[in-house]
Amino acid sequence: MQVLFLMYHYFAATEIYNDIRVFIAAYVWMTGFGNFSYYYIRKDFSLARFAQMMWRLNFLVLFACIVLDNSYMLYYICPMHTLFTLMVYGALGIMNKYNEIGLVIAVKIIACFLLVILVWEVPGVFEVVWSPFTFLLGYTDPNPSKSQLPRLHEWHFRSGLDRYIWIIGMIYAYYHPTIERWMEKLEETKLKRRITIKIAVALISSMVGYLWFQHIYKLDKITYNKYPPYTSWIPITVYICLRNVTQHFRSYSLTPFAWLGKITLETYISQIHIWLRSGVPDGQPKFLLSLIPNYPLLNFMLTSHHFHIHCNILQTLSIDKYLKNSICAQ
Ligand SMILES: *[C@@H]1O[C@H](CO)[C@@H](O)[C@H](O)[C@H]1NC(C)=O
Ligand SMILES: *[C@@H]1O[C@H](CO)[C@@H](O)[C@H](O)[C@H]1NC(C)=O
Repeated sequence: MQVLFLMYHYFAATEIYNDIRVFIAAYVWMTGFGNFSYYYIRKDFSLARFAQMMWRLNFLVLFACIVLDNSYMLYYICPMHTLFTLMVYGALGIMNKYNEIGLVIAVKIIACFLLVILVWEVPGVFEVVWSPFTFLLGYTDPNPSKSQLPRLHEWHFRSGLDRYIWIIGMIYAYYHPTIERWMEKLEETKLKRRITIKIAVALISSMVGYLWFQHIYKLDKITYNKYPPYTSWIPITVYICLRNVTQHFRSYSLTPFAWLGKITLETYISQIHIWLRSGVPDGQPKFLLSLIPNYPLLNFMLTSHHFHIHCNILQTLSIDKYLKNSICAQ
């Protein structure tokens, strides 16, 4: 996903816009899934851990904004994941003594849905809730065709696209152990029965995936943009089912991708300044950073090398590592 993101921006590949929306939803799904699992199992709601996470999510973007005098919203991925991380933290942290009780989790999940419906679906509520934060989340695109939009438009659009998928991630995290137990049982059943069930799962998933592809994915960008909040769980679920349908499938992964997956936040933010550039202050990156004009491939090599070094430095600087090292030293 991350490789395609970077390529999407580098090549301005608008033809994969709809795929990119699904990928971003998949990331937000993981925010819900990962954070739910963490807080549900570890029950560590401590301030130290919370501060560490907020720092990890925002330290690079904070420096980028201060040094370049850019808006926080230019790097919308950060406020968006910060918001959904806070929501999961809040959902599990409030009255966390009762998290063992299934009914309490159900009530919490329903409360999350109701909160999102209230803020994003009821006209006017979004503006009332977020207008005090305009200083932080407001953005005026210097591009004249977009500079008339309300300051909170960008935040409304970005946070709205994936408003439900983190809750779906939480639900999946809650049921993950149960499904895993089912799958173990399935692996132990007789061959014929096992194959039948697996084929049924694969067929149903593929069919649902195909319907989604035909009726949603193929829509043009403007029409499509109305659907992701309600439909992005479909391709994600289909992927999970197909990926897990055989033990063979789920045991493969690629090391370079796994490496890249650990620094997605850093690569996402840095691409704006290392591969791309904007023509004006605080603008969306619209141009390629050109170190050697007229030699696109050479230029790509040079900026990518630069990018690679930069990522390594950032990874070394990352507070996660720093904290781990200092804790080990102690
Ligand atoms: C919580 O979500 C954030 C944002 O995606 C992520 O950086 C962090 O690793 C997640 N925490 C856990 C414990 O998975
Ligand atoms: C599905 O496969 C992934 C990748 O191996 C694994 O992390 C996950 O736990 C599996 N899901 C279930 C429900 O077993």
